[in-house]
Amino acid sequence: MELVAAADSDERGLSLLKVVNVLQKVVVFVHTFTVDKLRSQLTRTASEEMPHMSEDIIEAKVREICQELVLSPEVLKEVCDCLQEEINKGLAKDSHPEATVKCFPTYVRELPNGKEEGRFLALDLGGTNFRVLLIEFSSKCRMDSKIYAVPQPIMVGPGDGLFDHIAECLASFIKERNLGNELLPLGFTFSFPCKQEGLTKARLAQWTKGFKCEGVEGRDVVELLKQAIARRGDVQIKICAVLNDTTGTLMSCAWKNRNCRIGLIVGTGTNACYMEKLEKVELWDEVIDDPPQVVINTEWGAFGDNGCLDFVRTEYDNNIDSESVNPGKQLYEKMISGMYMGEIARQVLVRLVSEGLLFGGFASDILLEKGSFFTKYISEIESDKSGDFNNCRAILEELGFNDATDADCANVRHVCECVSRRAANLTAAGVSVLLNRIGEESVTVAVDGSVYRFHPHFHNLMVEQISQLVKPGIKFDLMLSEDGSGRGAALVAAVASRCAAMR
Ligand code: GLC
Repeated sequence: MELVAAADSDERGLSLLKVVNVLQKVVVFVHTFTVDKLRSQLTRTASEEMPHMSEDIIEAKVREICQELVLSPEVLKEVCDCLQEEINKGLAKDSHPEATVKCFPTYVRELPNGKEEGRFLALDLGGTNFRVLLIEFSSKCRMDSKIYAVPQPIMVGPGDGLFDHIAECLASFIKERNLGNELLPLGFTFSFPCKQEGLTKARLAQWTKGFKCEGVEGRDVVELLKQAIARRGDVQIKICAVLNDTTGTLMSCAWKNRNCRIGLIVGTGTNACYMEKLEKVELWDEVIDDPPQVVINTEWGAFGDNGCLDFVRTEYDNNIDSESVNPGKQLYEKMISGMYMGEIARQVLVRLVSEGLLFGGFASDILLEKGSFFTKYISEIESDKSGDFNNCRAILEELGFNDATDADCANVRHVCECVSRRAANLTAAGVSVLLNRIGEESVTVAVDGSVYRFHPHFHNLMVEQISQLVKPGIKFDLMLSEDGSGRGAALVAAVASRCAAMR
């Protein structure tokens, strides 16, 4: 009985176990089913109704993508070292032919003393506009000028067409101002890389900034201008000097500021010139007489054309270069200047949209068009007070985004800041190299160009960065140079006639 009872109780126990087992399976099944259902519901909600990522995550991802545009102090120091080396190569006879930073001597050896006098004509060619100026120096400087457009077909057409256009504008200016009876000295600001062979002889090394006129590279541009004027036969001129806009900027500032030694342009293109001791210019073929110095046009826009800047260049820089009219050329310029900055920003924006980080992942047709994001947009967007997106929203509307969120605006602004800060830091690296080379205790840098002039923070960013890179004990200031290309041309002509009179 006991045995039976024992057997009975065993059987009951087994049945109970089976029940518990089944129950457990049911519970696990029900639980799994519920969790899976919930997860699938969440996924469906996320993909169909809610943005993929929170604003915080989007912001973090945007920052991560933009990080490659941020240059560390170590990287900038390396950029300085490379530029220093390239300048040495440019100035030395043996390495000059292969050098990318050409460092052309300009034949300008004296700075103005502020006592220049007389009336001068000036021509200014270097961007999308061309200007003719009449300048008069007494104790003051009076200027009258007229701007003429250079139509795109002329910028890329035959060279004769370009010089005929310049001559025509000059002739019409002379007639309009009734200057036909005077033989005024003329300074020609031609802002492209030229190998100068004297104050009035400059052979174009290569076109930059979107110009590509056939038959000019390798030729003396003063001669081409004279020929075009002779073809017309209706005006007489006396060309006294040909110069780069950086030299004009330096001269214009030096007219009143004794410490000025560097001329810098950050506009459509970028370039700098500086006063160098003749003993450091192996290229100088003339006698080393007084004053033992000459203004060097560095043509630093071409820095990096031998690959030495590849460690800072990004996919955006590569795209811009390969789609330009001069691939492989002016690589430093393409990271800095106004002709390219907007397009760099546009490329970053398009990438962010494609990764779903901007405008809900939808790009407008306008944003997808090359060149649609103008460099001036960067200045305007960064001019908004922090937290306020008035300019930014207006620009995004122009680009076809009518309902950008605050987060979109903040991210667009961040892209602009990264692009302009990189440009300012790279320019600052260049200026520091020149300040360190000159080695004087206190130097003024004359600056001109639309990017420097109109970007709300470019000046401050540069000052901050130069202070980090310059040798201890060197003081500097950056001064906006008023109308360097015009007034500077007249000053070079004036200083040339003063020096000729003294000889
Ligand atoms: C380009 C030209 C250079 C000029 C600069 C700024 O870099 O090659 O000559 O000074 O633009 O206009």
